[in-house]
Amino acid sequence: MKKTWGTVLVTAEQIQRRLRTLGRRITRDFSGEDLVLVAVLKGSFVFLGDLIRQIKLPLAVDFVEISSYGAGTVTSRKPRMIKDATLRLSGRNVLIVDDILDSGHTLRFMLRHLKKKSPKRIKTCVLLEKKDRREVAVEPDYAGFAVGNHFVVGYGLDYQDGMRHLPFIAALEPKHLRGGR
Ligand code: IMP
Ligand code: MG
Repeated sequence: MKKTWGTVLVTAEQIQRRLRTLGRRITRDFSGEDLVLVAVLKGSFVFLGDLIRQIKLPLAVDFVEISSYGAGTVTSRKPRMIKDATLRLSGRNVLIVDDILDSGHTLRFMLRHLKKKSPKRIKTCVLLEKKDRREVAVEPDYAGFAVGNHFVVGYGLDYQDGMRHLPFIAALEPKHLRGGR
């Protein structure tokens, strides 16, 4: 496979270790209850698959598909819902799962949207966050790793729909970007 990514920022082993910690925290925080994890497609599907196996509670999963990007690497600031959740969420504990918190527009949109469904409690979990890029005030309840101001790929995250299958998180280098920033 031709290498089209740059430096590895988080290894597969580091991800799995961190997920065990996050899973323990979520298990403790919702102890005695059950959960619906609502994952944001497509980027979070790998993270979701590993995370659920670290949560020792009865749980269900559902998916929302949101598109906030064109083909580039800069958010449009207008998340658009392509597919809504289908499970009943009213009166249930909801955990939103997303791959990365960047400007915050997607997570704020998700919180507003799912709160209208009257969940009992709603919390958020992201694998990665870029702390310096927030445009709207939103903080995750659970976060895996902070990454700098890079465009990152792998472990579900894509660049132009490629590289989601890399088992680690890597930064794209400018020479790999077509157009973009
Ligand atoms: P936000 O709305 O700007 O917070 O962006 C969140 C969404 O943009 C995430 O769910 C990702 O799908 C995507 N995204 C943001 N930064 C990156 C990145 O570095 N690599 C890949 N996707 C990203
Ligand atoms: Mg996404």
